[in-house]
Amino acid sequence: MTSEIRQLADRLIKEHHLLREEYALLIDSRDEESAKYLADAAVAVRKKYYGNKVFVRGLIEISNICKNDCKYCGIRRSNKACERYRLTEEEILACADEGYRLGLHTVVMQGGEDGHFTDEVLCELIRKIKAQHPDCAVTLSLGERSRESYAKLKEAGADRYLLRHETADPEHYAMLHPAEMSFDNRMRCLRDLKDLGYQTGCGFMVGSPYQTTQHLAKDIQFIEEFKPEMCGIGPFIPHHETEYANEPAGSVELTCFLLSIIRLVHPRVLLPATTALGTMHPQGRELGILAGANVLMPNLSPVGVRKKYELYDNKICTGEESAQCIRCLATRVEAIGYEIEVGRGDFCS
Ligand code: 5AD
Ligand code: FES
Repeated sequence: MTSEIRQLADRLIKEHHLLREEYALLIDSRDEESAKYLADAAVAVRKKYYGNKVFVRGLIEISNICKNDCKYCGIRRSNKACERYRLTEEEILACADEGYRLGLHTVVMQGGEDGHFTDEVLCELIRKIKAQHPDCAVTLSLGERSRESYAKLKEAGADRYLLRHETADPEHYAMLHPAEMSFDNRMRCLRDLKDLGYQTGCGFMVGSPYQTTQHLAKDIQFIEEFKPEMCGIGPFIPHHETEYANEPAGSVELTCFLLSIIRLVHPRVLLPATTALGTMHPQGRELGILAGANVLMPNLSPVGVRKKYELYDNKICTGEESAQCIRCLATRVEAIGYEIEVGRGDFCS
């Protein structure tokens, strides 16, 4: 690390802010030493707000039916080889109950943009989960919807919403998505969610096709301005049935470096060490936590459907029961000196 980079790092640590060109420089000139320097600072600042606790969120993959055709995604509508499924209301409620029984206080309902899940269907589900488990937070990750829809779901009791922005650069967004999807609508959704009072999560893939350092610097700037309560970042991993089948995957090392930067830019953000990171490296999630992440999302989906929710190849945790994943994560977290926190784990304001 040169003295120039060291100065940049120190300014980031102190001021939680750099210029776009400076983020780009920090990224491009990263080495083991600067990565360690930023990771240590990220861990220290996280400790100030969250101690050594790692939050756990139970993920229920409610449907892999999707009307969208994102070019990178294994469940895009044009993937005819994908075996489609949709959980019934009873199955979803059973997964939520199981998560609660295992001690989790957040359920995340994630799925493709499946027309079956109308506002009416979702509101009823949310109300039932909230009635059964009033001390549970309900997080949704169901894609782009209208402001009215987000408002109804909020009214029914949803607390949080995850919608990755995917890339903060409109041209890059257009490369990764079909013509009928728009960057502007994505941003509209994120603004509406925040405005309606959701704890809102954005995020992006690291190493997605055509991604440049400039794009990453823009992503960091976007996070700085938008101040999401949550931010999901993980490596891009090719899926064999997409046009990106032969593209290289994103790196664990760069993902961890960016986790540290994001922690420093936005100290209280809830930052998951993602399943994609765990897929790319046997200790990927631990490395993520050691770089500044503080959330893990064990899978609560019925084991029978897990392989079908294949956004990318070789996804981990597709054969393990929910209880096994939770135990596995607790062991991993303890092995690196952290502790699982089972409370709701809201954004600390
Ligand atoms: N590799 C990594 N992450 C992916 N996602 C979708 N496809 C892939 C892939 N091939 C991410 C997107 C999406 C989230 C649910 O999963 O960022 O928003
Ligand atoms: Fe699922 Fe380890 S977290 S098996």
